[in-house]
Amino acid sequence: MELLFDFLGLAAEAAVDLTANVAVELISERKKGTTNMSDTHKNITAAGSAVAIDGPVGAGKSTIAKECARRLGFVYMDTGALYRAVGVYCKENNIDAYNEEAVAGILDKISLEIKREKESVITIAFNEAGYKSPPVQRIILNDSDITGKLREPDVSMLASKVSSYGAVRAFLLDLQRDFAAKNNVIMDGRDIGTVILPNAKVKIFLKADPEERAKRRYDELKEKGAKITFDEVLADLQKRDSADSSRAHAPLKQAEDAVLLDTTGNTFEQSVEQVMEIINSKL
Ligand code: DC
Repeated sequence: MELLFDFLGLAAEAAVDLTANVAVELISERKKGTTNMSDTHKNITAAGSAVAIDGPVGAGKSTIAKECARRLGFVYMDTGALYRAVGVYCKENNIDAYNEEAVAGILDKISLEIKREKESVITIAFNEAGYKSPPVQRIILNDSDITGKLREPDVSMLASKVSSYGAVRAFLLDLQRDFAAKNNVIMDGRDIGTVILPNAKVKIFLKADPEERAKRRYDELKEKGAKITFDEVLADLQKRDSADSSRAHAPLKQAEDAVLLDTTGNTFEQSVEQVMEIINSKL
């Protein structure tokens, strides 16, 4: 198995690549040209219970959110994967991700489906803390499963770049809201509490010291045998944080009604317990 990992976002995905052709169910899709993008600000109410978790790179959002989703019986959605999918499309089709007009021009060629693996096929998958992973999200881009490509190192920066464009954010907005309207969800990202689900019942903003976030990533990468220095990991993390926080469209920021949780110094279990406490107090 070729191990594909995210330079700055390693999660439990590696384990599930063992299960090629796994059983999946469709949970949300955005077909080419099916959405009127001028109409994207309607329908912002999540029908189910929604938990929005936002925060910077490496704050532990995805691993914590996955475990909380498992405990609650909620569906977890990794929204960063959608921006990564647009990055993958650019990479594979030689589209300059730094050219806003070029990226806006290819959106009507993109069809995205989010599927999740059925529980039974992933019983062998455990995350780094030893918990069984909840069903894992798979991303289908124009009928091809690109889940394994999402965490390639260069895709992180491409995703950050394309996510700064208003057209890309509008393109992905309905997909995320439709998903929340149909499911009890925990969604993690950068703008879930501020833009995507402003009415979410629970909003949490996770943060941790940059050095600690970088250390977590560095340790994970070292364990996988990556040749990288701590300083490189820290520099990349800061570069992406800065781009995500300073962009004009839906920048990374804490929603006014979000609970701020600093996970610096926490174990994974402590962070999960604290997040569960917040969720249980609000739902
Ligand atoms: O969470 P992640 O590292 O997989 O996200 C990849 C990039 O996508 C991130 O640098 C910023 C962008 N993103 C975003 O703008 N809004 C989101 N809700 C999720 C991710």
